[in-house]
Amino acid sequence: MIMAYNLLKGKRGLIFGALNEASIAWKVAERTYEEGANLILTNTPIACRMGNINDLALKTHSTVIPADATSIDDLERLFTEAQEILGGKLDFILHSVGMSVNVRKNRTYDNLDYSFLNKTLDISAISFHKMLQVAKKMDAVSDNGSILALTYMAAQRTIAGYNDMADAKALLESITRSFGYIYGKEKGIRINTISQSPTYTTAGGGIKGFDSLYDFADKLSPLGNATADECADYCVVMFSDLTKKVTMQNLYHDGGFSSMGMSVEAMTQYEKSFEKDCNE
Ligand SMILES: NC(=O)c1ccc[n+]([C@@H]2O[C@H](COP(=O)([O-])OP(=O)(O)OC[C@H]3O[C@@H](n4cnc5c(N)ncnc54)[C@H](O)[C@@H]3O)[C@@H](O)[C@H]2O)c1
Repeated sequence: MIMAYNLLKGKRGLIFGALNEASIAWKVAERTYEEGANLILTNTPIACRMGNINDLALKTHSTVIPADATSIDDLERLFTEAQEILGGKLDFILHSVGMSVNVRKNRTYDNLDYSFLNKTLDISAISFHKMLQVAKKMDAVSDNGSILALTYMAAQRTIAGYNDMADAKALLESITRSFGYIYGKEKGIRINTISQSPTYTTAGGGIKGFDSLYDFADKLSPLGNATADECADYCVVMFSDLTKKVTMQNLYHDGGFSSMGMSVEAMTQYEKSFEKDCNE
């Protein structure tokens, strides 16, 4: 049973990217609702039809507004309708959007299709800039609002198989800093990324070798991998008034993975593979 602290009482939030119960955005919607927020949920029209976002809307008493996060027209409509429905400017936004056609089509990093790469960058990173730019031009976010995007360690360190999503995440984190400066100075609005552990979701499971990656990160991290529910808890804190001076940061939410080199658990697992080699 989760304890609610009313940390987001009366706040208006917009959540991108809840596809199904496994989605990190799904958990964030549930937790922010429990903390007293009023929400608008959004995803692409096709994801709204294929996934079960409507169940989440019922559960969280929120409205779904379909929008493609790469379309300026859709974003303008989304921000207009969201403010009308919620009755004012947004206090927080979650960007939980990512997709690589190269990954989906098993194109390796040394054999990328460049039109797919453009799509990866547009959906997974530039959509964040588009969302911020539209929101700023429409003055759709309250002063002292908080905006988050989800990212992954492959932006800092090469992780085999993460493919062109690594480049997208590096761009996403850079946009966070560049826009964070402007939005912070003009409106006191903070923008951060949360760098989350490997998590079993539709997007996560698409990465090559995900099971091994998940297990390795879990064995290397002193606290183990962070779950989607724990990520949602962290988002609540970042959307609350308790983090007003945190901005332009890439915040690791990874059980300590980012500071580790080798753990006893990972070494033990590695030694097992040597034993196997010797016995073969
Ligand atoms: N799962 C992991 O291991 C992991 C780890 C670190 C960071 N992340 C990041 O978390 C975020 C959420 O992913 P998830 O793991 O919950 O998977 P998910 O598949 O549940 O969510 C990805 C979402 O992106 C949406 N999307 C795709 N194209 C879109 C578009 N054009 N416009 C609007 N929405 C679009 C999808 O419909 C989906 O809801 C992504 O940015 C992902 O890279 C995931």
